[in-house]
Amino acid sequence: MTEEVILLVEDSDVLRQGLKSLLEQEDYKVITGGNGVEALEKMEETTPDLILADILMPEMDGYELFEAVRGRSEWISIPFIFLTARRERRHILAGKRLGADDYLLKPISPEDLLTAIRSRLGRSQQLLLAQLQESYEASLIMLANAIEVRDPYTRGHVERVMNYAQTIAEYLGWSTNDIYTLRFGSILHDIGKIHISEQILRKEGTLTDEEWIEMKKHPEMGVELVQGIHYLDSSIPVILSHHERWNGSGYPHGLKGEKIPIMARIVAIADSFDAMTTERPYRKELTPEQAFNEVVSGSGTQYDPLMVDAFTHAWETDKITEIFLAFP
Ligand SMILES: [Fe+2]
Ligand SMILES: [Fe+2]
Repeated sequence: MTEEVILLVEDSDVLRQGLKSLLEQEDYKVITGGNGVEALEKMEETTPDLILADILMPEMDGYELFEAVRGRSEWISIPFIFLTARRERRHILAGKRLGADDYLLKPISPEDLLTAIRSRLGRSQQLLLAQLQESYEASLIMLANAIEVRDPYTRGHVERVMNYAQTIAEYLGWSTNDIYTLRFGSILHDIGKIHISEQILRKEGTLTDEEWIEMKKHPEMGVELVQGIHYLDSSIPVILSHHERWNGSGYPHGLKGEKIPIMARIVAIADSFDAMTTERPYRKELTPEQAFNEVVSGSGTQYDPLMVDAFTHAWETDKITEIFLAFP
């Protein structure tokens, strides 16, 4: 891990030196400034991972520094901790109102200071990770939608399948992390269709045997596409097995019952429900009600009965209809 940089802004030389050596002992890289102006100059050269600043300083005080830092978009998420000797309530309130992450009172014990710094750095890393995950998801949706464009009858398919699947998982009480993986899998489930010819995807009327053979390759082709991309590994079970059926009559492997990965069993329901409620070249769409009844009647043959139960709960509370209406 690269060393983390702390910008320490303090007008007292003694205190600045003392804090600097304390932080350096903990392997932080420390840059310093004696007031807000100096701090901003330093920040032009090096962007710190955290700012620790006194409030009362000559030239530019801590509050002014805070506002200058937050005014720049590239610095907006740097954790900012105020450090001050003033025990007056109004200073604490002013700092909090400005939105500082923490407010530490001098004299402060080294342990308390280090704990505050570590927790702020940890939190800002989590935030960065969350932002990163969000942008991954957005770019994957873009890619999946690009594939959908070739298949004009399935516009919005990816988003709806993702939301139907998530609703089922929520009824099953899944953790945020597992739901996140499931969303990824849902986005990518048909990614292998990128290799299926447009002529097959857009064909009006039923597919010939050869065309079906071709179409049925999309799960395995999808796996080939994402294999080796570590971040997408967890979506492979969904990509590979979303056309398997509970009674073993699905493809590509004819897996039966619980041999089918659970995420794929969920996406199978979400995917079929969406396919049934959208118009396809070869048939007219069903109403949500009719499609729901189809899913229920496939319980135990095409679909996992437990997943159908969860889907039924979601249906009864109108969650499914809400999604159906929200992504036209
Ligand atoms: Fe598919
Ligand atoms: Fe699909």
